[in-house]
Amino acid sequence: MIKKPVLKARNITKIFGKGCPTCLDDDSDFEGNICPDCKSVVGCKNISFDLYPNEVLGIVGESGSGKSTLVRMLYLDIEPTKGEMFLEFDGDLGDDGFSGLPAQAIGANIFSAKSFVKRHIKNFFFGMVYQSAQLGLKLDVTAGGNIVERMLMANNRDIKKMRARASYLLGKTEIPVERMDEPPKNFSGGMQQRVQIAKAISNEPAILLLDEVTTGLDVSVQAKVLDLIRTLQNEIKVSMLVVSHDLGVIRLLTNRTIVMKNGRIIESGLTDQILEDPQEEYTQILVNSAL
Ligand SMILES: Nc1ncnc2c1ncn2[C@@H]1O[C@H](COP(=O)(O)OP(=O)(O)OP(=O)(O)O)[C@@H](O)[C@H]1O
Ligand SMILES: [Mg+2]
Ligand SMILES: [Zn+2]
Repeated sequence: MIKKPVLKARNITKIFGKGCPTCLDDDSDFEGNICPDCKSVVGCKNISFDLYPNEVLGIVGESGSGKSTLVRMLYLDIEPTKGEMFLEFDGDLGDDGFSGLPAQAIGANIFSAKSFVKRHIKNFFFGMVYQSAQLGLKLDVTAGGNIVERMLMANNRDIKKMRARASYLLGKTEIPVERMDEPPKNFSGGMQQRVQIAKAISNEPAILLLDEVTTGLDVSVQAKVLDLIRTLQNEIKVSMLVVSHDLGVIRLLTNRTIVMKNGRIIESGLTDQILEDPQEEYTQILVNSAL
């Protein structure tokens, strides 16, 4: 049986600036990411893809290619200029009874959903690990508190249970449980990323969005974080979008990959194929420079 995509992205465009027909029309295009007519910056242009259940999909591209802009639109942090996102989930995500999609979300473009529907989706359906821990965590609040706060948003109420789960998740992400009541500002970069991961999975999301989860970490810490993600992928039923400019990360984690440049998708396919036999010159350069 072919499974239905858990997420469908359709023609998602983000223009930073006032926009004009040149940068907004689907059938007009230009080189680079600055509109030649109105000088707006093209964050993303006409991004379409499907993410399947349990799939790990990679998004790769040089700095400024629009990767973070894309995930932040998917996570409903920023609004697209145009485009649609559809979500589907037919399984049971947990026993709390809240995890499924609200009826209003079924078959609807989530970008134009009511704010309570969006909030529900952010709190239950997605987990997000931001490129910077400053965005993903309250650095002054304890590690445990950060996780409990996330669970509170998803209607959990039992503090004791939440604390137990926070401690379990921190253990899983190899944060010493004794440090649960310390604020992440005391932690190393790798530890902060692992707290973000613990927080992101605390509500058993259907989709985990990981934006440059290992960037800036030293190699041994990177390996640990990558290992953790692979373990999670095997243990919990989750689809992942792994954003990275690091092809090593993409190779290790993903089945399929999308290559972005100047806000556009320029190539996509099975990760092995993209790495072994890239079709576009830009991808060839990315691959060769990573060797
Ligand atoms: N709020 C904003 N206002 C104006 N331009 C923006 C804004 N956010 C992003 N951009 C622009 O959109 C483009 C894409 O940025 P984005 O952060 O998505 O790239 P990225 O692929 O995540 O890069 P990196 O690998 O460095 O994280 C860049 O040209 C950036 O300057
Ligand atoms: Mg980025
Ligand atoms: Zn324009």
